[in-house]
Amino acid sequence: LAGQAVQVLRNAQEYMDLRASKRAIEAAQELRYRIVGRDPRLMEAIDLAKRVASSNTTVIITGESGTGKELLARYIHLESPRQEGPFLIVSCAAIPTTLIESELFGYEKGAFTGATTRKEGKFEQAHKGTLFLDEIGDLGLETQVKMLRFIENKEFERLGGKERLSVDVRVITASNQDLPVLIREKKFREDLYYRINVFPIELAPLRDRKDDIPLLVEHFIKLFNMETTKGIDGVEAAALAKLRAYEWPGNIRELRNVVERAFVLSHGFSIRAQDIVIGKGPHEERADIFAEDKPWLEAVQEFKSQYLYHTLKKTRGNHKKAAQMLGIQPSYLSRLKKELGLEKEEF
Ligand SMILES: Nc1ncnc2c1ncn2[C@@H]1O[C@H](COP(=O)(O)OP(=O)(O)OP(=O)(O)O)[C@@H](O)[C@H]1O
Ligand SMILES: [Mg+2]
Repeated sequence: LAGQAVQVLRNAQEYMDLRASKRAIEAAQELRYRIVGRDPRLMEAIDLAKRVASSNTTVIITGESGTGKELLARYIHLESPRQEGPFLIVSCAAIPTTLIESELFGYEKGAFTGATTRKEGKFEQAHKGTLFLDEIGDLGLETQVKMLRFIENKEFERLGGKERLSVDVRVITASNQDLPVLIREKKFREDLYYRINVFPIELAPLRDRKDDIPLLVEHFIKLFNMETTKGIDGVEAAALAKLRAYEWPGNIRELRNVVERAFVLSHGFSIRAQDIVIGKGPHEERADIFAEDKPWLEAVQEFKSQYLYHTLKKTRGNHKKAAQMLGIQPSYLSRLKKELGLEKEEF
């Protein structure tokens, strides 16, 4: 009997542990997909999203790159009756027509060379769920015709197939291009535009809602703390001032990257102004080190970082060559890269 009791207790303990870890996973998910901000325009976008979620209405989310379009699309899915179903993302950006079509529609065996088995496309896989079509403005004109038919009747055929398939899918699209302009240029079909533009939601650029910056920074620190063992618990006022002074062409994604870099660079418990290095992303303009007044040590640090970045770019990331050009030991170069947060950079 005692043995049985021990077993029962053990099972109970395991059950409790399981429940606790399930809760932890759910909390992490909630944090990862939380939409942070108090800006009235953002609140309105969230409100619209919440209200449209319960229906099957096609939604289009517009906004500059990095403004949170994918996050909002996921929010709509999670607030909808389809929440238990799949949420699938297809990026239509700059993908050759045959590739995007086989990804969307799937194909039958023998549809083209290399099609050795039948493959289900995203339309089928998204059955009972939500399909997020990102960068819809990049879709080729031929594919747009098929897309129109799909959005109208949720019907399609696999490539090389004759069978008409029908699925239950909610479509959300996004674009950071101005679709009416594309229509004028004859790159986007007007009929498809009217079909997807039923319920538009716009996300404002970050430069127009700078008051949200402190909240977002705090949020990202929480996220990075969850993923690492580094305990950072705040941001110095000077660091925040620096973040507010910038115009954020890459919007929230760029802010997130800058905060991540600062998180890695920081030595203490809070993020300091010198940890904030703006304009460092691979596609962004380098900040001009002479443009603002800054403390000597910070300017030196910035010079080092930019010069090293520049040299590594010239050598296409060749470590040995870069060390040679700079006349330093490769081991010192490694240390510098780490110190300046250039480790993960691609050259
Ligand atoms: N309001 C917000 N609160 C918290 N995180 C956000 C918010 N908006 C965006 N993010 C984060 O910023 C990053 C970029 O967001 P997302 O991918 O949704 O943007 P996007 O508009 O789809 O960008 P792109 O046009 O470049 O694809 C993601 O890491 C996302 O989690
Ligand atoms: Mg996106």
